[in-house]
Amino acid sequence: MFDVRCQKLISEFGLRSLLNELDISKKKLTVAQAMAIAIYEAYQGAQRVSPNPLVGCVILDSHGQFLSKGHHEVYGQAHAEINALKGLDKEQLQDATMIVTLEPCAHVGKTGSCALQIKDLPVKRVIYGLVDPFHLVAGKGAQILRDSGKEAIVYADYVGMDNNGQESRLLNQQLEILAENFLKNSRAQKPFVALKWAQSLDGKMALKNYQSQWITGELSRTYAHYLRSIYDGLIVGSGTILQDNPKLNIRLENFSKESKLVIIDPEATVYKTFESLELSRYHKKENIFFIVDAKSASSAAVFDFSAQAPGAFKNILFLNRGTSGFFSMQDIYQFCFERGMKSLLVEGGPSLIHQCLKQNAFDRIYAFVAPILMGNGLGYTDELPITSMNQKMQFTALEKIELGDDLLVTGLNWTYCYPIG
Ligand SMILES: NC(=O)c1ccc[n+]([C@@H]2O[C@H](COP(=O)([O-])OP(=O)(O)OC[C@H]3O[C@@H](n4cnc5c(N)ncnc54)[C@H](OP(=O)(O)O)[C@@H]3O)[C@@H](O)[C@H]2O)c1
Repeated sequence: MFDVRCQKLISEFGLRSLLNELDISKKKLTVAQAMAIAIYEAYQGAQRVSPNPLVGCVILDSHGQFLSKGHHEVYGQAHAEINALKGLDKEQLQDATMIVTLEPCAHVGKTGSCALQIKDLPVKRVIYGLVDPFHLVAGKGAQILRDSGKEAIVYADYVGMDNNGQESRLLNQQLEILAENFLKNSRAQKPFVALKWAQSLDGKMALKNYQSQWITGELSRTYAHYLRSIYDGLIVGSGTILQDNPKLNIRLENFSKESKLVIIDPEATVYKTFESLELSRYHKKENIFFIVDAKSASSAAVFDFSAQAPGAFKNILFLNRGTSGFFSMQDIYQFCFERGMKSLLVEGGPSLIHQCLKQNAFDRIYAFVAPILMGNGLGYTDELPITSMNQKMQFTALEKIELGDDLLVTGLNWTYCYPIG
C-alpha cells in the first residue's frame, strides 16, 4: 500500500518511472536516488515490522549501477541488508556500494548481525541514513565495517562531500520520518502518537445528533484501514463506541492483524456493556485496554462485572481526571508504551481529538477533509485556547494527497522535539 509520508520523495525523485525502469535495466544511479529508493522500499514493511524500525537497502555495483533492493519485511525475520543481498554472488558484490536507511546492526538479536555478515563480503562501501539511536548499538555497526577495511559513512557526512543542498535536506528529513516511531521510542522512551480524523470543509467531525457516517469517500476509508494496520494500538473515546457501535478491526484485502484497542471510558459504560457491542465479536479481551475514572474503581457495578465475567478484562488503568476534568493523555500513552504499544493511532471522536490537541499530546496528524459542509455540527477545535495568531497550532513536514474527492493532509506537530530538516 502506498504510504502518504513518502509522497514528496516519490515526486521529487520521479520514483515511479525509476522503479519501473529498474525492473528491466541495470540503471546507473546517484547515491541520492538510491537512498530515495531505499526509503520508499522500507515503507513496504510498515504493516509488519514493529517494534523494529522500517529499513530499506539498495545495492549498486562497482560502476554505480543498480543491482538489487530489499527491506525489513517481518519482525524477527531478515533485515533489509540481508534481503537485498539475496541472490547476489561475490563477483557482483566486488567493490559494490550498499545504501541503507539505518546503520547496519552490530548485535545478534532475533537474527544475526548485519554488520558482521557484510564485513566478510567484497563490498567496498556502506552509506547509511541514520546512526542507530540505541546507545548500546550506536556507531558499533559502522565500526565493525571500518575495522574490516570498508568505508562506512553516514549519509549526512557523505552529502557533505558531494553536496546537493535541497536534495540532501529532503532525504535527511525523509530518513527521520521513515524512522519516526523508532526514533521517538529510543530518544524519549515514549510511543509515537498520530491523530486521525475525518472532517467536513467547515471543520465538523459529526452532526449534533451524532451522525457522522460517512463524511469521506471509500478511498479515504480504505486508507484509514491502512493507518490502523501500521500502528500498534488504536485509541478511541467511549462516545464513538456508544454512538456508532463500530467494529474497529482492520478490513484490508489479503491482510490480517489484531490491533490492540485502548478505550477511554471514564464512566466504565463501554466496559459494562461490552458483551452487547460489535467490538466483542471482533476483538479478544486480552487486546482491549480500558482507561477508567479512578472514582469508578469503587463503583460496585465495575467490581461485579469483573468478578462475574469468565476471563474478565485484565487491562484497566484507573486514572484521576485532575482539575481540568480530563485524563492526562501522556499518562495514557505511558500505560500503552509499557504494554508494548510503541506507536498509537488516536481515532477520535471530536472530544478525544480536542483533548489531544489541547494537551499538545501528539506527534503527527492525518486529517481527511471531505468537500462537504456540515453546518452546526461537532467540531474539535472550538475550545482550543487560541486568542492570537502567535498561538496558532502549526504542522511541519506536510504531505497532501487526493483520495477521490477528499484531501488527506498529514504532518508532524510543529513542536515535535527532534531535528526534522
Ligand atoms: N469524523 C471522525 O473522524 C469521527 C471519528 C470518531 C467518531 N466520530 C463521531 O463522533 C461522535 C462521538 O463524539 P464524542 O466526542 O462523544 O466521542 P469521543 O471523543 O469518542 O468520546 C468522548 C468520550 O471520551 C471521553 N474522553 C475523551 N478524552 C478524554 C480525556 N482526556 N479524559 C477524560 N475523558 C475523555 C469523554 O469524556 P467526557 O464525557 O468527560 O468529555 C467522553 O466520554 C459520533 O457521532 C461519532 O460518529 C467521528
